[in-house]
Amino acid sequence: MNRRLFLATIAALPTLAERASGALPLPRFQENPFALGVASGDPDDTSVVLWTKLAPRPLDPDGGMPPAAVEVTWELAEDEGFTKVFKSGKATASRLLGHSVHVEVEGLAPDRWYWYRFQAGQAISPVGRTRTLPSPNSSPERLRFAFVSCQHYETGYFTAYAALAKDKLDLVFHLGDYIYEGAGRDGQVRKHANPKLYTLTDYRIRYAQYRSDPLLQAAHARCPWFVTWDDHEVENNYAGDISERKGADVAEFLIQRANAYQAYYEMMPLRRRSIPRGPDMQLYRKASFGTLAELLILDTRQYRSDQPNGDTASPLNEAALSPKQSLMGIRQREWLQSALKASPGTWNILAQQVMMGMVSRTTSGEKKYSMDQWPGYAHERMALAQFMGDNKIKNPVVLTGDIHTNWVNNLRVDDRKPELPIVATEFVGTSITSGGNGSDNPATLASLRAGNPCVQFYNQQRGYVRCTVTKDTWQSDYLVVDQISKPEGVVSQRASFMVEAGKAGAKPA
Ligand SMILES: [Fe+2]
Repeated sequence: MNRRLFLATIAALPTLAERASGALPLPRFQENPFALGVASGDPDDTSVVLWTKLAPRPLDPDGGMPPAAVEVTWELAEDEGFTKVFKSGKATASRLLGHSVHVEVEGLAPDRWYWYRFQAGQAISPVGRTRTLPSPNSSPERLRFAFVSCQHYETGYFTAYAALAKDKLDLVFHLGDYIYEGAGRDGQVRKHANPKLYTLTDYRIRYAQYRSDPLLQAAHARCPWFVTWDDHEVENNYAGDISERKGADVAEFLIQRANAYQAYYEMMPLRRRSIPRGPDMQLYRKASFGTLAELLILDTRQYRSDQPNGDTASPLNEAALSPKQSLMGIRQREWLQSALKASPGTWNILAQQVMMGMVSRTTSGEKKYSMDQWPGYAHERMALAQFMGDNKIKNPVVLTGDIHTNWVNNLRVDDRKPELPIVATEFVGTSITSGGNGSDNPATLASLRAGNPCVQFYNQQRGYVRCTVTKDTWQSDYLVVDQISKPEGVVSQRASFMVEAGKAGAKPA
């Protein structure tokens, strides 16, 4: 928001400013304290989380905030002009949580849109738009959402978000790699403002830099998000309490993980259940979009066992197939199985991080698989597919990020055996920016398909995936950006795949 507009908004709303005076002293800001925008997330049928974080100077270690707690007023209205304010209240932005604000607004009507904003002192935030989910026993006609991942700030512009913010979406899933932890590097499109991340302040500054991006802010303000993380929110390819750095001290890494998780909580529209407890944080969760879709959001980083075979691409050997290997951890695995069994959803959406398709990218010699993805945990991967088949779980669809490429995969219990029935469909979405401009190479698709019968589509451009779901069909549109190294990239639809309810597997739409 430019300064003139910002001041005009303040002048227009004197009554709100009066209401802000409470027990805490009224702060005076020289710069806009809402420089990181607003967001909402984790809706259910009667409540939603509203988020903001006060940071008049986002890249300062304390965000430019004084140590004292600040009272923040919030309003949620039935209209964009705030003539019908439905709920309002006060929240405290305290230093211990980096002056972030998480409001769980309750008592809302199911399946409807609302608008919200915050005020601190004389300053008023931009307006965000959010919605509740339909009530669990209702049968909504349609769900439309996008899923995104991997937004390395240095490698390009967030042009994909400009297009996403124009789509008519109910929800966005962010599947991780929201930030990258590396030090600022010269010669990139943009530059990280600080060195490699270890401390809470390091992570806070990094998130503040990313969230200062106006396109990312606008996308957050458009609709509620369900977020989950992958590795780079802490460190590349970490596994549970094991750092990628060989011989790293577990205690030291857990302190780093606690710092990273706290900064993640502070920055995301998450519920109180996700408040971190030291190095632990509850992120896997579920929600129901009526009986149309069950949303199952997974965390495949926090509880996983170490990648086998030294985390280098390997055949599916004894180490990769060991039943001791787990990507989800026992508790999450049992939770997922009960959630799938109890699900009322026509579609069961697994919003998660790493590719489930057992895909080998080796073109000659023995087939090798990524040990950081589900094939490194092949026993659990195959058992999950078996479970979905045995229990006739309705229409499982897996959403994936992580690898900066678009894929469509038809999943079987063992993807090396095309004679087996298809039990689920996987849509892998490319990165927002990670990997740079990328390219479209049909020859690579042909060779990947020849070696991996599960693969239906592959593309290496940047962008996002938009999904439209009804009780009969699922459609995934692959939106790609022609370039991200300049701000004026153009977004177009590269491919579109569909799934018919009751018939696992995708075909071109
Ligand atoms: Fe990534």
